[in-house]
Amino acid sequence: MIIAVDGPAASGKGTIARALARHYGLPHLDTGLLYRAVAARVLAEELDPTREADVVAMCDFDESLLESAELRTDHVGRTASVVSAHPLVRAALLQRQKRFAQQPGGAVLDGRDIGTVITPDAEVKLFVKATPMIRARRRYDELQRHGVETTFDRVLADIRARDDRDSRRSEAPLRQAADAALLDTSFLSIEAAVQKAIALVEARRGAAG
Ligand code: CDP
Repeated sequence: MIIAVDGPAASGKGTIARALARHYGLPHLDTGLLYRAVAARVLAEELDPTREADVVAMCDFDESLLESAELRTDHVGRTASVVSAHPLVRAALLQRQKRFAQQPGGAVLDGRDIGTVITPDAEVKLFVKATPMIRARRRYDELQRHGVETTFDRVLADIRARDDRDSRRSEAPLRQAADAALLDTSFLSIEAAVQKAIALVEARRGAAG
């Protein structure tokens, strides 16, 4: 079974995808990390993230880079959202994601275009969302816990800018696939969101079988 989980920043999609992978014993790929890895290399080489050809040259990175804690920083996340808008960068990372999805037994992938572009035939597709205010609050709390100096307003502005860039780009924009089940986590605890996600997967499987 392939489970595709898409949604905007801090919607809870990563947590839900990891929990589903555990629950069903499937391998999981956080596809945002691939774009973050490219972004980290662009920053390390001091390249301009808006220059597509330069960024494409950074797409053939070593798998071990995905383990790096540096990928989780906000700066890398912002740059990831810029480099991911380039069609040639998305094309360079496509096969890697498709291969992961096609492994025997299935997989869980989370990102922005999993249900629409990477695995349009996935048995189960979830689109996870929450209001920008609530997502900004979650991200802000998380940054506070990690001792990062910032303000709520900055985090909210960043979330809105990222939503805007991810939804407006011409190539693989963030949008809900027509056959994806919607999961709004705005007023759900992590535990409740995961339970609801499992229930949605079961309902889809039941419908398919
Ligand atoms: O959850 P958060 O937005 O903080 O980070 P992420 O999921 O690691 O994604 C970082 C950036 O990569 C996003 O803002 C997207 O622009 C991009 N991305 C994408 O374009 N397609 C994907 N399948 C996953 C991420």
